[in-house]
Amino acid sequence: MEQKIKIIAGLLFGITGLLSCENDVGPLILDAPSGPVSFNRDIQPIFDAGCIGCHDDSHQQLDLRNCCSYQELWSSGAGAPYVLPDNPAQSKLYRHLTGDLPLMPPFGSLPEYEVNLVLKWITEGAEDN
Ligand code: HEC
Repeated sequence: MEQKIKIIAGLLFGITGLLSCENDVGPLILDAPSGPVSFNRDIQPIFDAGCIGCHDDSHQQLDLRNCCSYQELWSSGAGAPYVLPDNPAQSKLYRHLTGDLPLMPPFGSLPEYEVNLVLKWITEGAEDN
């Protein structure tokens, strides 16, 4: 009997543990670096991993190519600029990452942490740093 209680208690503890872990994910994800975001260090690698596969010179039908060197964000195609410094809500780049415009990448959004880095970078003035 005592054994059973221990097992049940263990299970309950385990389940609450799991649930609280899930709750912890939010703050962890939002935990962007405390210093300023750097385009070269933090943002470019996100594009290199998640965007360049489609947004490159071999896909001429896309407006935004070489996604996304700093320069391209301001000059590539008719849709440029894709970033309005200090104004993420009006920045096409950010709106595509959140699904406000067609979601990018199309097969599933970037991790929230990376979207938040882009948000922070734009909010900080979208500098070429
Ligand atoms: C699997 C291929 C694919 C990937 C990966 C992808 N895109 Fe796209 N993207 C597209 C297609 C196709 C369109 C045009 C159709 C549409 O708007 O739905 C597009 C459109 C866009 C546009 C609108 C301007 C344009 O070029 O037509 C932006 C901005 C954009 N994507 C940004 C991104 C960013 C940033 C990433 C990485 C986080 C990304 N995309 C990843 C395929 C992709």
